[in-house]
Amino acid sequence: MKILSVVGARPQFVKLSPVAHALAAAGHEHVIVHTGQHYDAALSDVFFADLGIDRPDVNLHVGSGSHAEQTGAMLPGLERAMLDHRPDWVLVYGDTNSTVAAALAAVKIHQPVAHLEAGLRSFNRRMPEEHNRVMTDHAADLLLAPTAVAVEHLRSEGLADRTVLVGDVMTDVLYRVRDEVVREGAPAVAAPEGDYLVATIHRAENTDDPERLGAIVGALASLPRPVLLLAHPRLRDRAAAAGIDLTAGAVTVLEPQPYPTLVALVARSSGVVTDSGGLQKEAFLLRVPCTTLRRETEWVETVELGWNVLDGDLTDVAGHALRPTPPATDAAPYGDGHAAEQVVAALTEALPA
Ligand code: UD1
Repeated sequence: MKILSVVGARPQFVKLSPVAHALAAAGHEHVIVHTGQHYDAALSDVFFADLGIDRPDVNLHVGSGSHAEQTGAMLPGLERAMLDHRPDWVLVYGDTNSTVAAALAAVKIHQPVAHLEAGLRSFNRRMPEEHNRVMTDHAADLLLAPTAVAVEHLRSEGLADRTVLVGDVMTDVLYRVRDEVVREGAPAVAAPEGDYLVATIHRAENTDDPERLGAIVGALASLPRPVLLLAHPRLRDRAAAAGIDLTAGAVTVLEPQPYPTLVALVARSSGVVTDSGGLQKEAFLLRVPCTTLRRETEWVETVELGWNVLDGDLTDVAGHALRPTPPATDAAPYGDGHAAEQVVAALTEALPA
């Protein structure tokens, strides 16, 4: 079987890692196409190096732009790569502009396409990620769902026939890296002694309105505990443009961190404050309380189990961020760390004739 994976942004490199390993272990051919949506070394190259992923076979170097510019710039190169390699499956990941561009390019040339992390919904139609998810799910031939909740969303949209529950591949890589960090010692990190919080903010809904961004930075700055803010380029850009100083009060600004360092930093922290989807789940899996600065989440299980609190209106960021660790749980809504094998099995099973 020949798989062509399309990735472009940081969380997709994390998801690609366990899938690439599982495909290699099963002896399948794997072509990796990087759209170039993320191009900074800290958002791209270090993930390939640290997570043991082969260098991309193709890099389209599309870079930044408006949604239309970025998505449109990807289409011709994606179509070319699919025609050149003629895989059995194009595999697309998550919810970025690279995901929807690859799904669109594939269906137009009758190229079978599978969507990994299908069925997640925020039901917030102002988020670019929500459009990307919905359009990709309805275009794709095979929907690889991470959770029972995602399966239910797909069923209610009439997509049950194409859906397979495989579990969450980010859990696979998180467990693997957590165990490496424990075994081999944490990579060098600038973590303060004692209790501290890890924060990330990058979503357009939080960064692009100066008033809201100012309120978020103000809330982080006034926390009575050190806050390590791992600053995504979008956050830095928008803060600079709005004249907002990210380094105020409790906040120490760091570059985006490599994945093993992030895992080590979060595991040792007393809490996470974020708008990232992946980090909400990673905090839960590492059993660190999370406060999410959004009004909704796709990972509802983290909230239902008491490990994640949504504070989209910034009503009590300090109260939530400093709350004690909830009672222990052995709930495993994201699977057992072997989802990538299920992905390979589902792709093999559904192989088009
Ligand atoms: C994208 C995804 C989002 C995902 C996130 C992970 C979309 C619509 N959004 O958001 O779902 O959670 O990636 O990080 O696809 N930039 C750099 N260097 C880079 C990449 C981007 O400086 O390597 C700057 C760009 O100039 C731009 C900003 O970051 O100003 C946003 O980049 P973009 O790829 O549009 O979206 P993200 O916010 O990263």
